[in-house]
Amino acid sequence: MSTLPTPTPHINAPKDGFAKTVLMPGDPKRAKHIAETYLTNPVLINDVRGVQGYTGEYKGKKVSVMASGMGIPSIGIYSYELYHAYGVENIIRVGTAGALLPDIKVRDIIVATGACTDSNYSCHYGLKGTISAVPSFELLKKVDLAVQKLGFQDKTRFGQLFSTDTFYKDIPDTLDWAKMGCLAVEMEAYGLFLNAARAGKRALAICSISDNLISHEELSAEERSKTVNDMLLLALESAISFD
Ligand code: HPA
Repeated sequence: MSTLPTPTPHINAPKDGFAKTVLMPGDPKRAKHIAETYLTNPVLINDVRGVQGYTGEYKGKKVSVMASGMGIPSIGIYSYELYHAYGVENIIRVGTAGALLPDIKVRDIIVATGACTDSNYSCHYGLKGTISAVPSFELLKKVDLAVQKLGFQDKTRFGQLFSTDTFYKDIPDTLDWAKMGCLAVEMEAYGLFLNAARAGKRALAICSISDNLISHEELSAEERSKTVNDMLLLALESAISFD
């Protein structure tokens, strides 16, 4: 059910411009790359603030891609407008994350089964307690099947992400979150999962490891943009099995 009129303050696409499933990388350039590399007949449907959104087809199924920007406030705005104004049912965050365990390598894939956070984003719901942030179990089952189909078992882990509000920290406590089972740090999944829960919709976060905070192994910005292909294939193969 749509509760917001279109266009929205941040998206100028037509009302029926988006597919039911939207892939959301953080980086607008990556959204363009995904549309041009993987989608058939991609059509540009949004360009507000240079955040280009595209709708096309992957293996005959309609799929959209649009960037979320960086951080929970940014993905909070875009995912809210997609769920509430554009009738989007499924959002898959496809981004990079920093590994918190020594044996997770760059280019490995983390599929989030939940997100911890140091953000106060949940406070705006006014609930007296701690809101857990989880992806859709229904969609997770489909990702698991896609992992088997693609033969990605050795490079994929299912587990918790730590969604932080601060990339540059005065107190470096990120690695402490590994004690609570977090596999990797990024900056968006928690907000996306809460928006999906509140909207009664579905979300996933699938991340490609760009750096390891223990071994200090890392990919350059250029390598990052080229080596996320396995993550994108997994997201797209999963997406075509969604209802
Ligand atoms: N912090 C936050 N987000 C990230 C990091 C990090 O170290 N690496 C990749 N995404």
